[in-house]
Amino acid sequence: MRLLPDIVSYEERLKSFDWSLAVTELGYVKEDIINIGWYCSDRICLKGNADKIALYYESFGGTEKSFTFNDVRLTSNTIGNFLINLGLKNEDRICLFMDRIPELYFSFLGILKIGAIVQPLFSAFGDESLYIRLENAQTRAIITQRKHLPKVRKISHKLPFLEYVIVVDPVKGKSLEKNEVAFILHETPSVEDFKIFPTRAESPSVLHYTSGTTGQPKGVEHVHYSLISQYLTAKWVLDLHDNDIYWCTADPGWVTGTSYGIIGPWSLGITQCVLDAGFSAQAWYKFIEKYKVSVWYTAPTAIRSLMKAGKEVVESFDLSSLRHLSSVGEPLNSEAVVWSGKVFGKQFHDTFWQTETGSIMISNYIGMKIKPGSMGKPFPGIVGVVLDPKTFEPVPEPGKVGLIAFKPGWPAMMRGYWNNHEKYREKFVNGWYLTGDKASIDNEGYFWFIGRDDDVINTAGHLVSPFEVESALLEHPAVAESAVVAKPDEINMEVVKAFVTLKPGIIPDKELELDIMNFIRRKLSPMAMPQEIEYMDKLPKTRSGKIMRRVLRAKEWGEEIGDVSTLEDD
Ligand code: PRX
Repeated sequence: MRLLPDIVSYEERLKSFDWSLAVTELGYVKEDIINIGWYCSDRICLKGNADKIALYYESFGGTEKSFTFNDVRLTSNTIGNFLINLGLKNEDRICLFMDRIPELYFSFLGILKIGAIVQPLFSAFGDESLYIRLENAQTRAIITQRKHLPKVRKISHKLPFLEYVIVVDPVKGKSLEKNEVAFILHETPSVEDFKIFPTRAESPSVLHYTSGTTGQPKGVEHVHYSLISQYLTAKWVLDLHDNDIYWCTADPGWVTGTSYGIIGPWSLGITQCVLDAGFSAQAWYKFIEKYKVSVWYTAPTAIRSLMKAGKEVVESFDLSSLRHLSSVGEPLNSEAVVWSGKVFGKQFHDTFWQTETGSIMISNYIGMKIKPGSMGKPFPGIVGVVLDPKTFEPVPEPGKVGLIAFKPGWPAMMRGYWNNHEKYREKFVNGWYLTGDKASIDNEGYFWFIGRDDDVINTAGHLVSPFEVESALLEHPAVAESAVVAKPDEINMEVVKAFVTLKPGIIPDKELELDIMNFIRRKLSPMAMPQEIEYMDKLPKTRSGKIMRRVLRAKEWGEEIGDVSTLEDD
């Protein structure tokens, strides 16, 4: 593999690693001000890169725009100034509910510049998903597009803390409702000098929501100091260099889209491109060819979809600009790694991390031998192990499955779950942070992913809580009871499957199945929508009345059902 001259091997890095390497490169002085908004824009300009392109943007319809780092600095100042004038302030939660339009990226930094907390939410979320998260965070303002206003309007009256709905593209002459305000970036005078709020290392920055097996989604609290990990991992794992054109395909509604779709690359002054459109093999290859993408960070479902589209499609484009490929979010099967080596001449480097870890934890580090199907080894400075599920002690034997755990203390580690200290505490045992995933480690220290240690469904890299879908199903007028599990899928790895019993007198048919599916899609999201609904007369339950998802899941995966001694008798 061709390594750029400044690359230091993994083994060398391990010998002398210290996070202070990033602290020094970033010029951060301990106890001093550290603000991600400033680091990703003003600092890059001060270093002489004001005119360098920060963002190439292409819309669904093909509209192209480009912005320099100076544009990013000014637009984020302007948005920050607008928010301050509304009376918003540090530590207020401000939600971004937008497609991947430039305003999303600039607002992200603008919110951080005023010391407020950014709450990015995926714009495909339905009103119920949106409501639960805004209510939990007591969000004060939401920045959105007019196309998403109907969802916001449906719930805003139930959200007493929500003071402002900021619309970035209102229709001229069409009135907004009482708590809605217009903010049109290109019509707003640009703010040259903006007083950035003096956030410190432990000041809150980003609040991402993630789903668990039980209860409502949890708000994962990050701080400005996360920059240290995000900067260094973007540099050494994604292998970003000054002349790179970088494409992270993730939406900033999810953590990959913020840690490595905004903070990592821009704090390094890297040009990145954004395609605000859904997946299509042709469109993606065309985009790589057109912008000469050199570093590409994507997800296994997309790679499997590209595989399905075939080699011939790849060959009709010039993809010679590609230098480094990485993947995250779900298991990357060995076939996909081998395939990419054949068709792109480069293998995908798998990386493993979570919303909670804030930055990459395990990776196929640049220059390291890739073992297809393995996630690689812990990033220098990260102590990663697998624990025995009974004793919570590290498993000494290579190849034995255990729980993936890390020694707390890396800079981007979450600082808590919003308003949920109990759930946060449960993530730590014997001084280890538990990821909720299982793996084995081979005799060379490589991690091999096995699966999750809970019922959370990972569909196309998106975590879906069975509890959330089950609760939403119960709101459908025909549904009496429900149980939701993962079902295997060739492309998405897992999809949502629902088992339901119906209320007396309701006749199960195809039409009802579609109606229930759409009900969940609108309420929650397209990912949470069950791909299949199976009608049951009765759900398997324990004698105490708890639904046994395990039994249903085992059936879907063709696995042994295991101990059913607590199963209710007929
Ligand atoms: O189960 C693991 C899976 O995705 C979970 C984290 O999801 P989320 O918090 O949404 O963050 C996703 C992007 C950072 C993990 O607990 N996961 C992540 N990376 C991998 C993975 N599963 C297998 N292989 C991976 N490389």
